[in-house]
Amino acid sequence: MVEYNSKNPYYGEMIEKRVITHPDSTKETRHISFDLGKSGLEYKVGDALGIIPQNPNELVSDLMGLLNFNGSEMIVSHLGEATVEDALTNHYEIHRLCKKFIQGLEMKFSSSSPKISARLVGRSRTQVNSGESAFDWDWSGDEEDYPEGFTPVGAATDPTLLLWESLVNDADAMEDYLWSRDYIDLLSDMPNLSFTPQEFVSNLDRLKPRLYSIASSPDAHPGEVELTVGIVRYNHHGRDRGGLCTIYMADLAALNEKSIPMFMSPTRSFVLPKDGDTDIIMVGPGTGIAPFRAFLEQREMDKSKGRNWFFFGDRTSTHEYLYEEELNDWVDSGHLTRLDLAWSRMENIPKTYVQNLMAQNGEEIWSWIDGGAYFYVCGDKNRMAKDVHNTLINICQEFGNMSAEDAKEFVEKRMMKEEKRYLRDVY
Ligand SMILES: Cc1cc2nc3c(=O)[nH]c(=O)nc-3n(C[C@H](O)[C@H](O)[C@H](O)COP(=O)(O)OP(=O)(O)OC[C@H]3O[C@@H](n4cnc5c(N)ncnc54)[C@H](O)[C@@H]3O)c2cc1C
Ligand SMILES: NC(=O)c1ccc[n+]([C@@H]2O[C@H](COP(=O)([O-])OP(=O)(O)OC[C@H]3O[C@@H](n4cnc5c(N)ncnc54)[C@H](OP(=O)(O)O)[C@@H]3O)[C@@H](O)[C@H]2O)c1
Repeated sequence: MVEYNSKNPYYGEMIEKRVITHPDSTKETRHISFDLGKSGLEYKVGDALGIIPQNPNELVSDLMGLLNFNGSEMIVSHLGEATVEDALTNHYEIHRLCKKFIQGLEMKFSSSSPKISARLVGRSRTQVNSGESAFDWDWSGDEEDYPEGFTPVGAATDPTLLLWESLVNDADAMEDYLWSRDYIDLLSDMPNLSFTPQEFVSNLDRLKPRLYSIASSPDAHPGEVELTVGIVRYNHHGRDRGGLCTIYMADLAALNEKSIPMFMSPTRSFVLPKDGDTDIIMVGPGTGIAPFRAFLEQREMDKSKGRNWFFFGDRTSTHEYLYEEELNDWVDSGHLTRLDLAWSRMENIPKTYVQNLMAQNGEEIWSWIDGGAYFYVCGDKNRMAKDVHNTLINICQEFGNMSAEDAKEFVEKRMMKEEKRYLRDVY
C-alpha cells in the first residue's frame, strides 16, 4: 500500500464545492468533498486533511512579465531543478510578500550603491559643508546622530531605496506594507529592481500545505472526505486577491478530475470519548463546526447513547447558518440534545457570541462537566478560543464552588492535561 504524505501526496478528485452561506452573505463558506478513489486513504473523525495548493496561472504570468522571465529558465529550489514557471506555480508562495524577501534586497542595494546600503552596517563616510570648501571624513552611526549641519554623502534619494530603508528600519511600517501586498506591488513600487530567476526565488517563502478539519465521518461517507472551508477573499490596491489554498479550491481546482494533491493529518488528541455513553459539549462557531458535524455523524452511526450539546454561531441566522437542515434534523430526532445558536450581526438583536450562551447556561454546563462530559472547542484561536476558555473557567468557579485559582487548575490541569477531556482544534 502506498504511503501518502505531504511529500508524496495522493491526487484526489474534488466532487463538490458548494457554497453553504447565503448568496447575499458577507462571507463565502463552502462544503468541499473529495472522492478518495482507490487510494486506500483512511481517516477518523477529528483528523485533518492536508491540501497542497498552487498559485494561479494569471498571477504567475503577470509576475514573470514584470520580471522579464519567459518561464523556461531553469532554477534550483528546495524541491530540486525546475523551470521558473513551475517553481513560481508550485514551489513558492507568491500571493503575499514575505519579510525575508524585502530584507534580502540589501544585497541588491549594496552591490549597486554601497554607500547607501550602509544603514544596516554603519555609515562610513560623510561630507562636511563648511563655508565654501568641502572635505570628506570618516564617521559612522545612526541618522539621528549626525552632527548638526552635516549631510551624509550618498543619502538615499532614489525612491526605491527610500522605500526599502523605510521598511527595514521600521517594524510597523514593514508589517503594514506586507499585510496587503504581493510581489507585483513590490515591483511596481520599486521599479529599479531587476533579478535573475535564481536570485528572485532564493528568498521567497516555500509553498506550504494547508490543513482542514475533516467535516465528515468515514462511516457515513465511505470513500469520501468532506471539508467546511471559509474562502479568504479581499481587494487591496485595486486588485482582487485572497488566500492561496482557499482560492485554489474555490476557483482553480477542477471538479471531477484526479488532480488535487492531498494527504491525511491524523490527530492523537482531538478524538471522541472511547465510551459512547459519555456526554459531549462542542463549541464551534464559523468553520469551527467542521469536526463537530463529523462527530455528530459518527456518534449517530455508532448509536452512541451519550448526550450531544452543540454551541454554534456566526454572523446571521438567515445567511450564515451552516448545515442548518442537518442540525435541525438532529434536534428533531433527539440526537442533538441541545443546540444553542449565537448570532453576532443580526439587525435589532444584541451581538451574541457562543461564550455568552455558555455563560447563560453555566449551571447546566457544570452539571454535564461534573458528570464527566468531554468539552471540545474548534475555530478561531486568537479571540474565540481564548474567550471560551475563560468562560469555562468562570463557569467551573461559580457552579463548581471553586476559587478562581482552583477553577483555573481544574480546567487547565485536570480536564485538559490529566483527564484529556477538554480538547481543542483551533487555528
Ligand atoms: C488544524 C487546522 C485545521 C483547520 N481547519 C480549517 C477548517 O476546517 N476550515 C477552514 O476554513 N480553515 C481551517 N484551517 C485554516 C486553513 O488551514 C487555512 O489557514 C485557511 O484556509 C487559509 O488558507 P489560505 O491559503 O486560503 O490563506 P493564506 O494564503 O494562508 O492567507 C491567510 C492569511 O491572509 C491574511 N488575510 C486575511 N484577510 C486579509 C485581508 N483582508 N487583507 C490582507 N490579508 C488578509 C491573513 O494574514 C491570513 O492569515 C485550519 C487550520 C489548521 C491548522
Ligand atoms: N489561520 C488562517 O489563515 C485562518 C483562515 C480562516 C479562518 N481563520 C480563523 O478562523 C476563524 C474562523 O473563521 P470563520 O469565518 O469560520 O468564522 P469567524 O470569523 O470566527 O466567525 C464566526 C463567528 O464567531 C464570531 N466571533 C468573533 N469574535 C469572537 C469571539 N471573540 N468569541 C466568540 N465568537 C467570536 C464572529 O462574529 P463577528 O465576526 O460578528 O465578530 C462570528 O459570528 C476566523 O475568525 C479566523 O480568525 C484563520
